[in-house]
Amino acid sequence: MKFLAIGALLLSTASALATEHVIKGASIIPANHKGELKKIGAHGQKYKDRRTVTIRSSKSDTDDISDDFLWGIKAANHGGRLILQKNKKYVIGKKLDLSFLDNIEVQLDGELKFTDDIKYWQANNFYYAFQKSITFWVWGGQDIKIFGKGTLNGNGQAWYNAFAGREILDSSNTFYRPILFLTDNATRVSVEGITQLNSPCWTNFFVRTNDVVFDDVFINAYSTNASALPKNTDGFDSLNVNGLTVTNTRVDIGDDCFSPKPNTTNIFVQNLWCNNTHGVSMGSIGQYSGVQDFIENAWIENVTLLNGQTGARLKAWAGPNVGYGRINNITYKNIHIENTDKPIVLDQCYFNINATTCAEYPSAVNITNITFENIYGTSSGAEDEVVADLTCSPNAVCSDIHLKNINLVSPDGGSEIICDGIQGDIGVECVSTTS
Ligand SMILES: *[C@@H]1O[C@H](CO)[C@@H](O)[C@H](O)[C@H]1NC(C)=O
Ligand SMILES: *[C@@H]1O[C@H](CO)[C@@H](O)[C@H](O)[C@H]1NC(C)=O
Ligand SMILES: *[C@@H]1O[C@H](CO)[C@@H](O)[C@H](O)[C@H]1NC(C)=O
Ligand SMILES: *[C@@H]1O[C@H](CO)[C@@H](O)[C@H](O)[C@H]1NC(C)=O
Ligand SMILES: *[C@@H]1O[C@H](CO)[C@@H](O)[C@H](O)[C@H]1NC(C)=O
Ligand SMILES: *[C@@H]1O[C@H](CO)[C@@H](O)[C@H](O)[C@H]1NC(C)=O
Ligand SMILES: *[C@@H]1O[C@H](CO)[C@@H](O)[C@H](O)[C@H]1NC(C)=O
Ligand SMILES: *[C@@H]1O[C@H](CO)[C@@H](O)[C@H](O)[C@H]1NC(C)=O
Ligand SMILES: *[C@@H]1O[C@H](CO)[C@@H](O)[C@H](O)[C@H]1NC(C)=O
Repeated sequence: MKFLAIGALLLSTASALATEHVIKGASIIPANHKGELKKIGAHGQKYKDRRTVTIRSSKSDTDDISDDFLWGIKAANHGGRLILQKNKKYVIGKKLDLSFLDNIEVQLDGELKFTDDIKYWQANNFYYAFQKSITFWVWGGQDIKIFGKGTLNGNGQAWYNAFAGREILDSSNTFYRPILFLTDNATRVSVEGITQLNSPCWTNFFVRTNDVVFDDVFINAYSTNASALPKNTDGFDSLNVNGLTVTNTRVDIGDDCFSPKPNTTNIFVQNLWCNNTHGVSMGSIGQYSGVQDFIENAWIENVTLLNGQTGARLKAWAGPNVGYGRINNITYKNIHIENTDKPIVLDQCYFNINATTCAEYPSAVNITNITFENIYGTSSGAEDEVVADLTCSPNAVCSDIHLKNINLVSPDGGSEIICDGIQGDIGVECVSTTS
């Protein structure tokens, strides 16, 4: 009520906003009202003060404020900021189309949490044919900045429980789970400082988006039910994206840490920490027959990969009825890997295509100009002494693959590097299992 009163008063004096209607429990504070901004934690932030919108918070986990949130986003659009205050919870129980954004900041200091009404979300969502993805909401437009110390909470436990025993790659699976944060048709998106917790499925998916920057974000998915672990909660996925930067970020989830998908270019990753993941993986690409995919120009530096299935990886499909394309100009530098089953993987016979079939149907995804430099640490021993497995399709384009300063050892002290089907010298001693 207090904010409503203040909001209404300020509104009456701010002629530019005079036509806006302030909903119950909300307020709009002009940028020059420092005292009011300070009270709600919006003044003295990293970014300069803006017209700032507050909305009412939720009283419980079922008190859906999605209408208020949508109103707040609209009121903050075009140069303002929506603040979600510290120690307050904001529950979203309805799907939201946020595709109209233009110059907006969201200061997330509190908790933005989705309801876990599986029935509702499976009937109401945004669907993407690519790997049959659904999401709670779509963020689109330009100049979108989310920052703060708060949490975006996917409330995944009910989803983990219900999905237990199912497989996303099972072609008959129709139990879809929402992605926590999705941008589509967006330009200049930045996310800083927040925690992304317990996504039901992938944590971030960027589609048709240019210039995405994540900095200082913590991504975590865990289950309190040992027989229903989080699944497919990837940190970062992308499709048709140019410009993807992730820095100073920690990811502790049970699937891909960072995994750009078809048509991602100009990738920059620095100071990334991943625990229990499937590592930093370019692809897979080239899955769909007749479709061209590419991943090009990636610089991945200073990454720590702990307790994973795979570490630094590239993967492209081979076999009958697959697509084509290229993975070109990828650098992995200064990568610390510990207790990981397959620390370095280049697989141009994906997915599980054996040598005979891979020779018969080699990949049409060219893999070129790849550097692995200063990669060190330990494997888990799951692959015995193999610490790097580079498998190209026979007679496919797989060239200019360079390894330098590789210091990876298995628990028994061995360190074998497999190189099958690669053209040219890879720069380190290696063995071919097929020749
Ligand atoms: C993408 O967004 C722009 C405005 O930013 C809009 O004009 C265009 O129609 C959108 N494209 C699609 C495919 O939605
Ligand atoms: C844990 O997950 C299993 C598998 O879905 C489910 O049967 C069980 O009810 C869950 N336990 C709790 C406490 O929710
Ligand atoms: C590498 O990244 C870690 C975080 O994972 C950070 O603590 C460290 O300072 C970084 N090292 C360099 C040389 O930037
Ligand atoms: C990393 O994951 C392991 C479980 O595999 C866990 O025990 C450990 O606490 C995690 N490390 C950190 C720093 O969170
Ligand atoms: C990738 O880009 C190519 C060329 O622009 C396009 O033909 C293809 O459909 C895109 N792939 C995907 C999966 O969107
Ligand atoms: C290769 O990628 C790096 C890093 O993204 C980029 O700086 C460089 O210009 C690219 N090289 C070429 C030849 O495009
Ligand atoms: C793959 O390499 C072949 C041989 O150099 C070339 O003809 C083809 O255009 C390349 N494909 C792509 C998608 O770059
Ligand atoms: C390779 O895979 C093909 C297709 O799945 C199968 O028919 C064939 O028996 C396999 N060959 C070997 C040597 O395992
Ligand atoms: C690989 O890099 C070299 C040197 O920068 C360049 O000439 C070549 O075109 C690159 N390959 C592809 C497929 O772009």
